[in-house]
Amino acid sequence: MSIEVRPALPGDLAALVAVENAAFSGDKLSERSLRRLSSAETAIVGVAEERGKVLGYALALTRRTSGVARLYSIAVAPEETGKGVAALLLHYVENAACGRGFHTMRLEVRSDNKPAIRLYEKMGYRSFAQYENYYHDGMSALRYQKSLCTR
Ligand SMILES: CC(C)(COP(=O)(O)OP(=O)(O)OC[C@H]1O[C@@H](n2cnc3c(N)ncnc32)[C@H](O)[C@@H]1OP(=O)(O)O)[C@@H](O)C(=O)NCCC(=O)NCCS
Repeated sequence: MSIEVRPALPGDLAALVAVENAAFSGDKLSERSLRRLSSAETAIVGVAEERGKVLGYALALTRRTSGVARLYSIAVAPEETGKGVAALLLHYVENAACGRGFHTMRLEVRSDNKPAIRLYEKMGYRSFAQYENYYHDGMSALRYQKSLCTR
């Protein structure tokens, strides 16, 4: 397997939209949001690619006033799941955030999203809080965090 994770390029937008639409059934990021968020200076976007095919992406957002980065979205094309692509993407954004001086990564996940929860727990994230009624359908969110740069 020759999967590479690299920074996003402007020409990736259509592929990122395709992954987003295939991976999520609700609460999708629109093309406009993806374009705006991924081109922000404060964003860290990793794109997983294999032989020219985009398999998935991860988007983390940062603020100049905080040492905490936030994993805003991660998605892998359904036919490419279960191969460790998301784990590679998470490593990539975590390392990039650490390199930019951020000490913690945080995220929210739907409390019924078992694959994502398993992924985060396997990658060393710990749940520290819950938001009730967080998503449009009333589902709660679990908040997870991980310390970066600990090795
Ligand atoms: C969640 C998601 C990103 C995982 O991507 P992935 O590339 O399949 O994940 P990986 O192959 O790196 O798997 C890493 C771990 O995640 C867990 N995992 C992944 N898919 C799983 C599934 N279908 N069921 C249960 N656990 C799963 C496992 O613990 C796995 O470790 P293992 O291979 O040792 O069992 C992917 O399923 C996806 O894009 N889902 C839709 C979008 C989404 O929900 N994003 C998260 C929003 S917070």
